[in-house]
Amino acid sequence: MNPALTQFGDQMSHLTGVRAIMKDIIETLRAGNGQTFINLSAGNPVILPEVEQLWRDCTAQLLASSDYGEVVCRYGSSQGYEPFVEAVLGDYNQRYGLSMTERNVLITPGSQALYFFAANAFGGYTRDGVLKDIVLPLSPDYTGYGGVSLVQEALRAYKPTLDIVEPHRFKYRPDFDQLEITDHTGFVLFSRPCNPTGNVLTDEEVNRIAALAAAHNVPVFVDSAYAPPYPALNFTDMAPVFGDNMVHCVSLSKAGLPGERIGIALGDEAIIQVLQSFQTNFCIHSSRYGQAIAAQAIASGALAEISERVIRPHYAHKFTVLEENLDAYMPKEVPWFLHRGEGAIFAWLWFDQLPISDWELYQALKQYGVITVPGSPFFPGIKEDWPHTHQCIRISLTATDDEIATGMRHLATVVNQVYQPVLQSSAPVAASLLS
Ligand SMILES: Cc1ncc(COP(=O)(O)O)c(C=O)c1O
Repeated sequence: MNPALTQFGDQMSHLTGVRAIMKDIIETLRAGNGQTFINLSAGNPVILPEVEQLWRDCTAQLLASSDYGEVVCRYGSSQGYEPFVEAVLGDYNQRYGLSMTERNVLITPGSQALYFFAANAFGGYTRDGVLKDIVLPLSPDYTGYGGVSLVQEALRAYKPTLDIVEPHRFKYRPDFDQLEITDHTGFVLFSRPCNPTGNVLTDEEVNRIAALAAAHNVPVFVDSAYAPPYPALNFTDMAPVFGDNMVHCVSLSKAGLPGERIGIALGDEAIIQVLQSFQTNFCIHSSRYGQAIAAQAIASGALAEISERVIRPHYAHKFTVLEENLDAYMPKEVPWFLHRGEGAIFAWLWFDQLPISDWELYQALKQYGVITVPGSPFFPGIKEDWPHTHQCIRISLTATDDEIATGMRHLATVVNQVYQPVLQSSAPVAASLLS
């Protein structure tokens, strides 16, 4: 059967961003052809034994408790499972000196769902036909934002400034000379720490964005999938920033529960109410089992503790391994730049004046048995032709130390080959970029 699709049906039946590339990766891994691959593409977090044990213990407690039937055998409130909402509120209010009530919280089936609700409630066409933009103030950002809006043209991303912070290291910063937040903005969205780059916007940058948005009554959604207190995947000091027009968006996926699909929105009552109604229409409410086990882990403080003691050091160490191997093996004369590793579970590499595309580099690396992710899908909402979008790759920190080290050695070999023609013809240009 080949049923006719609506515009939305057509759009939503296509995979966007990394999901589309994952198809190629899965097929490559499956075909194998006798080759073994080092997979540096994974977005799935590592199963860390202590973290898995925490969830086993919480599950055992739930099974032994009289709440079990209430949790899995009944529908509940569309806002979220009450003990979970209470645990989250208690923790955030105490930790950050806030006075939020249950009206400021919504539990969603993963944070991706939360962005879908927001994208279509606050972005797109108003009743009067005015297009409200979804502003991504610093591109590149999470590839999943590319698929959340039913109105593709609503997504508008802004190019950052690129600071070379030391030899072979760089950092993106929001370009406030270009960024526009106006009455035509529906809402602003960014990840902090950022997937794919590991960037952490400073408090000052976040407050500046929030102030620009507040002047137009625009909400700012801060995607905190990697932020403290859980999973605490920040390698630099940072704390969540709260404000009247800010919605703090938490995910428990990188804290070991991606399969349970738990997202949390914390923010203004009126915004939460809109999202909650959207969710009720969409799926009634999010699954309660994961919320019930997470309620215990949050109320006891175990989740925040294990995040800092186990999850953060695991990935911070991987970043160090990657950095050391890049510095040891990458050709010094090539203008390669690693984004500062301030958090998340990825490293982001930029190859200035890359003579081939990011996709071709990805294919060349596959020949050496190394799978990365080409960078171009991480620029959703960039409407102009910007060469930088084809000069980057993302490397996952979920592999073993050995795999990361070997992967970086192969990367160095490939990059060396790829740049040879450029280096031979325009060495001074490349060298000038390294200073
Ligand atoms: C920055 C960012 N936001 C959101 C998500 C989606 O998370 P969830 O599993 O909560 O839907 C991810 C997943 O990788 C992510 O990296």
